[in-house]
Amino acid sequence: GRLGGVAGNMMVLSRWNRNLAFFTTGYNYLALILPTIIVAPLFLSGQKEFGDITKAIGAFSVVLAAVSLVITQFERLSAFAAGVTRLGALWDYLDEQDAEDDLDTEPDQIQISEEERTISLDELTVKTPNGERLLIRELDVKLPPGGSLLIMGESGSGKSSLLRTIAGLWSCGEGHIGRPPYRNMMFLPQRPYMIPGTLRAQLEYPGAGKTPTDEDLKATLEIVNLTSLPDRVDGDFDRDADWVNMLSLGEQQRLSFARLLIKKPAIAFLDESTSALDEPNEERLYAHLRKHRYTFISVGHRSTLLKYHTHVLQIGKEGSWTLLSCEELLAQGNEPVR
Ligand SMILES: Nc1ncnc2c1ncn2[C@@H]1O[C@H](COP(=O)(O)OP(=O)(O)OP(=O)(O)O)[C@@H](O)[C@H]1O
Ligand SMILES: [Mg+2]
Repeated sequence: GRLGGVAGNMMVLSRWNRNLAFFTTGYNYLALILPTIIVAPLFLSGQKEFGDITKAIGAFSVVLAAVSLVITQFERLSAFAAGVTRLGALWDYLDEQDAEDDLDTEPDQIQISEEERTISLDELTVKTPNGERLLIRELDVKLPPGGSLLIMGESGSGKSSLLRTIAGLWSCGEGHIGRPPYRNMMFLPQRPYMIPGTLRAQLEYPGAGKTPTDEDLKATLEIVNLTSLPDRVDGDFDRDADWVNMLSLGEQQRLSFARLLIKKPAIAFLDESTSALDEPNEERLYAHLRKHRYTFISVGHRSTLLKYHTHVLQIGKEGSWTLLSCEELLAQGNEPVR
């Protein structure tokens, strides 16, 4: 077993240590005896004086000490060598890991270029971040400016994942995405994020556009059917309020839509962002987007959404998909198969 292995290793180690001790001790004694043995016959035959023996021993030991560095430092040298070997092994291992990482990631990365005015997807294959599940296979979509795409499919089919991939949050898969830079796009989630603070801050979120006037804000609130919202803070756009608890989900969704109309991104992504609205309210928002030739991509389950979009992408099982023009589809009187 393992204990046997350890004991055996210990035995080998002590045997080596014993042999090494014999050798170095013997070597040191030899250094004392050897010059005496060589010079002794010369002294006995009267060729050398006694003092020469001591000189010879002295000279010999100086030369020997210089030459036998390897033997006296044997233990330290071997410890050093062992250290170098271990570091070398670690180095090789890390190198190997790096090489494997390169192999793993490089061919399996989606390429994104940010020069495009709208969205163009080329042979786009989307996988979950660990790469274990394929969600969409070799998708080709080109959305013209002013075009609008509705993405449909069962829950869990990969609709939101496709938006995450276009945003650049997910990069596992293959193919190419052309789109505007991230700052020119806007993503509206199903449950909008209400920032703590004033109505103005709420409407200007996420910022980085030109600052709207109070008149702009009022006009925008009218479009999204929230005309009376400023009344709740006595018409003061700069008063703090607890917006999360004060607004219903549908109201929050309309407020989030108002942010979109204020920022005016090149492309809007609406991930079930009108799901809590009644049909007239939903219609009002989409009609505005169509009228002002916004380019947008929506995700939704309701087939009433079809009429507000130019194209529909249906995501099916095992990465399959179909892309149709909404006009054709509605003319046939068909709804996409669920
Ligand atoms: N971070 C993640 N890591 C691994 N798998 C994930 C991750 N996020 C989502 N998934 C899986 O990817 C699949 C697609 O998820 P996605 O959110 O795109 O579904 P969806 O089509 O938007 O569904 P829904 O209509 O319910 O919103 C799901 O099976 C989900 O469990
Ligand atoms: Mg989703």
